[in-house]
This record gives sequence, structure tokens and C-alpha cells, in this order.
Amino acid sequence: MRQQVTIQSRSLAQTVSCGKKLGELAQVGNIYTLAGDLGAGKTTLTQAIGRGLAVPESYYITSPTFSLLHEYPGRIPLYHMDLYRLTGEDEIEDLGFLDYLYGNGLAVVEWSDRLGNLVPENRLHIEILLVGETERTFIITAHGPQYEKILAALNQ
Ligand SMILES: Nc1ncnc2c1ncn2[C@@H]1O[C@H](COP(=O)(O)OP(=O)(O)OP(=O)(O)O)[C@@H](O)[C@H]1O
Ligand SMILES: [Mg+2]
Repeated sequence: MRQQVTIQSRSLAQTVSCGKKLGELAQVGNIYTLAGDLGAGKTTLTQAIGRGLAVPESYYITSPTFSLLHEYPGRIPLYHMDLYRLTGEDEIEDLGFLDYLYGNGLAVVEWSDRLGNLVPENRLHIEILLVGETERTFIITAHGPQYEKILAALNQ
């Protein structure tokens, strides 16, 4: 099975449709790690993942830049983390993030490079490249067999 796919998004709508599928395909215990510059679309993609998980529309999914973690109820819980402001692995452990990372829902982590050595072995990694005003490139890498399945389903 393929371990990496590249998806071209030429509009917000295309990103939303990709995110919804990622939400629909998620299972309890899954981890999606997101990388990409400021404004690349990590939060935008997470919002769509939330819709794919059937998080009710009444919940507005926002960047947890200051609160670090938001939890939303969906088909399974969505744990949305933003590690931008964190500086080290100790801080991440002290805040108890690992309980959410390996929790009973889908964990979506913005700025996952901050995890350092704590980065999970098994995960779906999504790197978003800012190509133009409304154009983005998604490089999606499966680490672990369950994520290869998600990748295959996403690519159909
Ligand atoms: N094709 C596209 N895919 C995703 N976002 C797009 C696209 N075209 C335009 N945008 C816009 O780009 C912006 C992405 O912002 P967003 O907050 O999601 O980025 P981010 O990666 O979470 O940034 P930060 O690192 O600050 O948290 C949004 O305003 C969104 O509407
Ligand atoms: Mg964000």
C-alpha cells in the first residue's frame, strides 16, 4: 500500500472536502499530525475534519493557540491541539497532552514538530504547503498500517 499521497487543493472548498473525508475515516485512537506555515490551513482543515466527525454545527472549531487544547463531541471525540506556543517535551508531558494524544477519540495536532521525541510512531502526517492565495499542496504520509488504509480510502 502507498505510504504517501500528494493532493492539490485549489480552493477552500476542496480543502473542506478533503478534511471531511479525513474525519469520516477516523477511528478511536487515531492521530493526525499537521505541519505547515502560519496561515497554511491547519485549523481550516481541522474544522472540516470536525464536520466529517459529525461535530454539531453549533460548535465553532477555532485555533486553540492560547488554550492549547479544545475538545469537541462528534461521532468520536475530537481533541484539537495547537502546540505552537510550547517550547519543550517536558511542558507537553506536564500538561497531560499524552492522555489526549493516546485517548479515546481522534487527536489532531497543529505544530506537531513541537512534539520532538514524543512524536507518535503511528500517525497520519499532513504537511500543508502554501502555494498561492487559495492554492495549497497536501503531502499526506501514513506512518503505520491503519493509516495506510485511510490513505488508500482517501485517494479513491
Ligand atoms: N485551499 C485552501 N485551503 C485551506 N485554507 C485556505 C485555502 N484557500 C484559502 N484559505 C484560507 O487560508 C487561511 C488558513 O488559515 P488557518 O487558520 O487555517 O491556518 P493555520 O495553518 O491554522 O495557521 P496558524 O499556524 O496560524 O494556526 C484561512 O483564512 C482560509 O480561508
Ligand atoms: Mg491554526
